[in-house]
Amino acid sequence: MSNDGVNNGRRRFLVAATSVVGAAGAVGAAVPFVGSWFPSARAKAAGAPVRVNISKLEAGQQLVAEWRGQPVFVSRRTEEALRLLEEMDSVVADPDSKSSDQPDYVDPRTRAIKPEVLVVIGICTHLGCSPLFRPEVASADMGADWKGGYFCPCHGSHYDMSGRVWRAQPAPLNLPVPPHHYETDDVIVIGLDPETA
Ligand code: FES
Repeated sequence: MSNDGVNNGRRRFLVAATSVVGAAGAVGAAVPFVGSWFPSARAKAAGAPVRVNISKLEAGQQLVAEWRGQPVFVSRRTEEALRLLEEMDSVVADPDSKSSDQPDYVDPRTRAIKPEVLVVIGICTHLGCSPLFRPEVASADMGADWKGGYFCPCHGSHYDMSGRVWRAQPAPLNLPVPPHHYETDDVIVIGLDPETA
């Protein structure tokens, strides 16, 4: 694949390839623009699961898929990002996501099936803006305490690299983890739990 869909600058943003489960030739390489591989409007309205190929997703990068008309953030975390999650347990409001939406088959801290790959709904739990992916530790604008995560530009909510919201933020809950499972090492199906796959 070319680098057209990858911005190695600050936001490290990669647009996902998604496809309807069961569609012919559905698993493909990431493509530059959302839309090329999206389910039909009818399939999206029905909430059809989508496949996401993460083979080109490098550590520190994120891609954005779409499921049920919502952005889904899929990020591959670095070893450092995973290590820093432990430090964030005392900063976030709900470290084990007891009040937030996540399936019981993900780990409480990494909120993931495979620790390095996070899958969360990319909609702020305050009033529904889409948070920005900010993985850089102690970046100049986020401050020395910033360990990487998500920042909502609408009213300033901070989330960690597991999508866990900090304490005393406008947003009340962690970013939801949608049902998902691995079809292969490189293909995640969003919208279906492992036991129903
Ligand atoms: S919508 Fe994100 S902080 Fe308000």
